[in-house]
Amino acid sequence: MTNHTILEPLPEDQWFIESQELRSFVATVREISASTVDDRTQTLAKLEPHFQELLAQQEWLPEKFAQINPESQMGGGIGQWLLYRAKDRSLSVFSLVIPPGSTTPVHDHLAWGLIGLYKGDQEETVYRRIDSSDVEGHAQLQVTEVRLLQPGDIYRLLPPDGDIHAVKTTSQSASVSIHTLGNDTGCVLRHQFIPASHSVKSFRSGYSNAPCKQEEEKAHGQLY
Ligand SMILES: [Fe+2]
Repeated sequence: MTNHTILEPLPEDQWFIESQELRSFVATVREISASTVDDRTQTLAKLEPHFQELLAQQEWLPEKFAQINPESQMGGGIGQWLLYRAKDRSLSVFSLVIPPGSTTPVHDHLAWGLIGLYKGDQEETVYRRIDSSDVEGHAQLQVTEVRLLQPGDIYRLLPPDGDIHAVKTTSQSASVSIHTLGNDTGCVLRHQFIPASHSVKSFRSGYSNAPCKQEEEKAHGQLY
């Protein structure tokens, strides 16, 4: 399956919260990612301590961005709140809020990234695709790992490694994870898998608070 949809650049970088911690983290991410373009393993390794520091600070994420979203496009009441994205859509930071007992669909991300747990507990099931991807709609997955995550835990995405997973909240309260990814994850056309039927379909998660196209901007929330 190929992504034929080209996303237009945005007029400017977009900030959805006002936070010095986030601004300084994004500046670091941009600096590190620009200096390690040819080696994303290095990008992730260098970013990780900075991301750890951001996750350890529990005051910068406004409560509104740690809420579930009953109208979620992803289903299950899952909130996907955009915090920052670069105008060329080469970087996004967002929170993902999964209600207790809810599980995300099995999905991919199609970009390098770091995901860290901020609140609650999660169980992550990581998959690997083992078919040749040449039959439309068909995909065969194998579970490679099941991980239990607690606040402060970080995992890496470096497609194809670690790129396909499903995440479930195992705590009594919603889990909140922070995603730092090298694309506009909510807007790119990616994949949703149904392992039981060996099927795959195109999927765009969107964001709970931001449109993917500029002309839809006015209908959504405030930018900083
Ligand atoms: Fe994910």
